Amino acid sequence: MADIFERLLKNAGPIGQHRERAHGYFAFPKLEGDIGSRMIFRGQEMIVWSLNNYLGLANHPEVRKADADGAAQYGLALPMGARMMSGNSNLHEQLEAELAAFEGKEDAALLNYGYQGMVSIIDVLCGRHDVIVYDAESHACIIDGLRLHPGHRYVYKHNDMDDFEKQLQRATALIEKQKAGGILVITEGVFGMAGDQGNLKDIAALKDKYEFRLLVDDAHGFGTLGKTGAGAGEEQGVQDRIDLYFSTFAKSMASIGAFVAGDKQIIDYIRYNIRSQIFAKSLPMPLVVGNLKRLELLKTQPQLKERLWENAKKLQAGLRERGFDIGKTDSVVTPIYMKGDVPEATAMVMDIRENYHIFCSIVVYPVIPKGHIIYRLIPTSVHTDEDIQKTLEAFSATKKKLDAGEYKAEKIPDMAEVTGKRFDYLTERPKNK
Ligand SMILES: Cc1ncc(COP(=O)(O)O)c(C=O)c1O
Repeated sequence: MADIFERLLKNAGPIGQHRERAHGYFAFPKLEGDIGSRMIFRGQEMIVWSLNNYLGLANHPEVRKADADGAAQYGLALPMGARMMSGNSNLHEQLEAELAAFEGKEDAALLNYGYQGMVSIIDVLCGRHDVIVYDAESHACIIDGLRLHPGHRYVYKHNDMDDFEKQLQRATALIEKQKAGGILVITEGVFGMAGDQGNLKDIAALKDKYEFRLLVDDAHGFGTLGKTGAGAGEEQGVQDRIDLYFSTFAKSMASIGAFVAGDKQIIDYIRYNIRSQIFAKSLPMPLVVGNLKRLELLKTQPQLKERLWENAKKLQAGLRERGFDIGKTDSVVTPIYMKGDVPEATAMVMDIRENYHIFCSIVVYPVIPKGHIIYRLIPTSVHTDEDIQKTLEAFSATKKKLDAGEYKAEKIPDMAEVTGKRFDYLTERPKNK
């Protein structure tokens, strides 16, 4: 018989296999200091482009005060228990009512986390005869929710409306044959990696032709898109055609938690049946208090979103002018597509961090195909013109080196040599007694 733990230690996974060399630098880096456009990484100030603090609320003085007041007044324990049993409060209900009103929906239900919430929403909505039709580039929380789904699922090519309709036809035919079940369509409002909006308008238009319910994960659209910041549905003029609108608080709200909004009876059904909330302690009071303050600022301070977009437009225009491929983004998420292998990509990131003091996220094989590199820059309302200028210059300089093959000779850098510390997975983890 195999020892499960032994197998795990032999094969630590696609990223975990590099942990000894990468830990603390490429993986699990520690950004210190107040959250903002400049933070400290290994003792050095960096311009940071990897935080979804879109509206700069993370360190807004009113937010910090609300967080502190909430903790002082209630502590982390209150309320004890799941919402349904003993963990409800007026403030939880107030936050739900305010979120629903903001999204133009009848009601909303709080969730403790976005990831776990989405997994559980899919579980609570669909039975074995139902068919889920979903975008191929959906976030892991949607994919993992699908893993719980006992019925069929049909994937359509990312934002491809011909393929979407084809999959809808397949789903409709299957349901007619089964004589049972319905269709749930799931897409994102903004795809967090490439920054392109989900094609909500065209998806919604097909509701006139096919019967389905639409669930939108708008993690990156909430607070950043639409006239009022209500998200991608508002931006595309189809908010009323979204049956269930979902977002996390982990991005624009710079907090923890999530919500789903829709018709009162459906939200009530979710509230009374969603396993991730029924069998879990409810959101702690300081988070509810802090989220109420964040939502108030998001609604009353449109200049935060305006500033975010000014910065995003400057960054994206600057990159395009310098010949960078930033793909099809129509949100503030700014990818930069380059060609190179993994050693080149890692050498380039090191150069950008160590010599230009820019900290951003990078995606390479095996997450994307071999030979491709994606940098992902997240502008926020607190970035300055100087931050943007320095970043554009750094990317121009390093791209020249990449194109000239200057990073080619490098093997994958061993971060243990740079940091002077090798991460020992076995000795640095607390051992089971
Ligand atoms: C599209 C999308 N959905 C859900 C989540 C998960 O949210 P949370 O961090 O609240 O679990 C994320 C966060 O990465 C996301 O990008």
